[in-house]
Amino acid sequence: MNKQELARLAATHPKRYSLPQVFYRDRDVYRHDIEQIFLKSWLYAGHQSEIPEVGDWFLFEFDQESVIIVRSSETEINALLNVCQHRGSRVCVESSGCSKRLTCRYHGWTYDLDGELKAAAHMGESFDKSGIGLKKIHVGMLHGMIFINFAADPAPFSLVKEGLAGCLESYGLENAKVAHRQSYPIASNWKLAVENYTECYHCAPAHPEYSRGHGLAFPGSRSDQLGLDVMGRAAVCGLSDKTVNRMYMDAPAFGADFSYDRYPLIRDHLTGSFDGQPLAPLMGSIKDYDGGTTDLQVGPVTFGLMYCDHVVIYRFTPLGPDTADCDITWLVRGDAEEGVDYDREKLIWLWDVTTHADKTIIERNQKGVNSRYYAPGPLSEMENFTWNFLSWYLQSFRSAA
Ligand code: FES
Ligand SMILES: [Fe+2]
Repeated sequence: MNKQELARLAATHPKRYSLPQVFYRDRDVYRHDIEQIFLKSWLYAGHQSEIPEVGDWFLFEFDQESVIIVRSSETEINALLNVCQHRGSRVCVESSGCSKRLTCRYHGWTYDLDGELKAAAHMGESFDKSGIGLKKIHVGMLHGMIFINFAADPAPFSLVKEGLAGCLESYGLENAKVAHRQSYPIASNWKLAVENYTECYHCAPAHPEYSRGHGLAFPGSRSDQLGLDVMGRAAVCGLSDKTVNRMYMDAPAFGADFSYDRYPLIRDHLTGSFDGQPLAPLMGSIKDYDGGTTDLQVGPVTFGLMYCDHVVIYRFTPLGPDTADCDITWLVRGDAEEGVDYDREKLIWLWDVTTHADKTIIERNQKGVNSRYYAPGPLSEMENFTWNFLSWYLQSFRSAA
């Protein structure tokens, strides 16, 4: 479907309705999503503890793109496009590694950790290596979390950092480590995965494990006595009780969204575990469990759940029009020892079981949307954030037309 038709559909879409089928299936829509959303937004790539030594790198891949996230010095992390400047081969092929130089295996062109070309055999005397290198894209660091942006002139990452100032410090995320990271491929368009993440209308029917410990499954729990008690305890425990919400913003802040919102756990749960009991040592400078957890958002497709003793980061990316990746990182204190201070299976249990359930319902959603009988349906009052996401998304067609 051409740009003008898509822009017209976006402009006339009724408020608070799910999208027409074309937005979940069409190839042109998919190209639009990559170019107008993913190549312009701040995306979570990983945590600095995954590349502690100079020369450590890992790949972040989605759609047709591959980025080498590499530590080039004790204080610098680069994001280099994984496209050789000779004839375009991928340079790094494993998912992670460690090397002082990055060598393309096709004809041996060799780059340093800043991406500069250092060696290229049989190119003749007049060949000038200077100025040739792997293309660098923008990197933004947020308390040890690495974000990247492909745009030449992205919305400044300082918007996110300043917007979240005072919220994240006590978690000590720069000193955290990755206890587990896992990718969950979902046979759906990426938007159905984000729509699902941004609402808890489905939590009670789909997530009994989550719902027995988390107030968000029940509307109003933030403002009732339990919610007020938790907010009262948060400060005493060294946590921020601040709420900020700048999700799904337009230019010039496009793609630099942020939000932080603490809400109560219920039934005496202290954290997101099977029985509500602690899973790992308290994060950072947090002094005690306040009985709450935090919803975090950075950029349009990265979300976090911040418990007192661990943090879970979700990132949704498209692998194709009808395949998405849900990448989940579990962070604990950097000095916590697996098997001694935490049990990995117990740590990941809740969000693993919840994500498997989400995968099932999102894939069913896609199957229904694929039907010739699908038509957009009305959203509930528990789907306000989903509508924020969808209306921001529709706006991108008006801006691109
Ligand atoms: S494509 Fe990389 S060296 Fe030829
Ligand atoms: Fe869910």
